[in-house]
Amino acid sequence: SSNNKINVAIDGPAGAGKSTVARLVAKALSYVYVDTGAMYRAATWYMMCRGIPAEDTEKVLQHVPELMIELVPDPTGQKVYCNGEDVTTVIRSMEVTSKVSQYSSIAGLRTRLTENQREMAARKGVVMDGRDIGTTVLPDAEVKVFMTASVQERAARRFKELNGAADITLEQLERDIAARDKFDEEREVSPLRCSEDAIVLDTTHMDIQGVVDTIVSYCLAEKDGE
Ligand code: DC
Repeated sequence: SSNNKINVAIDGPAGAGKSTVARLVAKALSYVYVDTGAMYRAATWYMMCRGIPAEDTEKVLQHVPELMIELVPDPTGQKVYCNGEDVTTVIRSMEVTSKVSQYSSIAGLRTRLTENQREMAARKGVVMDGRDIGTTVLPDAEVKVFMTASVQERAARRFKELNGAADITLEQLERDIAARDKFDEEREVSPLRCSEDAIVLDTTHMDIQGVVDTIVSYCLAEKDGE
């Protein structure tokens, strides 16, 4: 079998478990995990801090060239830096979460982050998760997975994860997730959609390890097939 590295694209809607799975797949293969959602969140945080609303596209685009987003592997997971500042925690806040879809629909911002993501994947050996990785960012990725789960199941997982930390009901989470899906699917630039050559994994009734094992086996088969 060949030791040649491949790239793995994992796409799907909010809360399907992509980041957990992608991180574990990367670990199993000794690959680098790239969380592109964190990059859109960091860009959102950066603009919000400067009082630049998503509606003011022109102003956002003026500031895009100065954006410096870094993903740094860390024993506790992955650290996210934006222009030198550690934003790992703040980008998960409700404020950022509620605005990220709007900033993510700005074409010039997507172009810039897409370039950064392609650079990260240029030497292969990357597991990248997002919404448009298989369709737009890495159309030549050797393995493409589209992970889904029912809205109810995804809301239930998020609810469990929050463990009472946020003042939000399960019903509200379901509504938020459904709204974000709709926005991500309907935006004009690079919408969330399944690549024709992607493997579709409905994880509603699967556990994390089952999903990870399935994807790793596809990756190994792909490497061996070369
Ligand atoms: O995966 P996440 O919830 O951290 O992603 C946050 C938002 O970023 C999501 O609502 C859509 C956007 N996003 C995107 O437009 N393209 C990507 N490749 C990744 C995320």
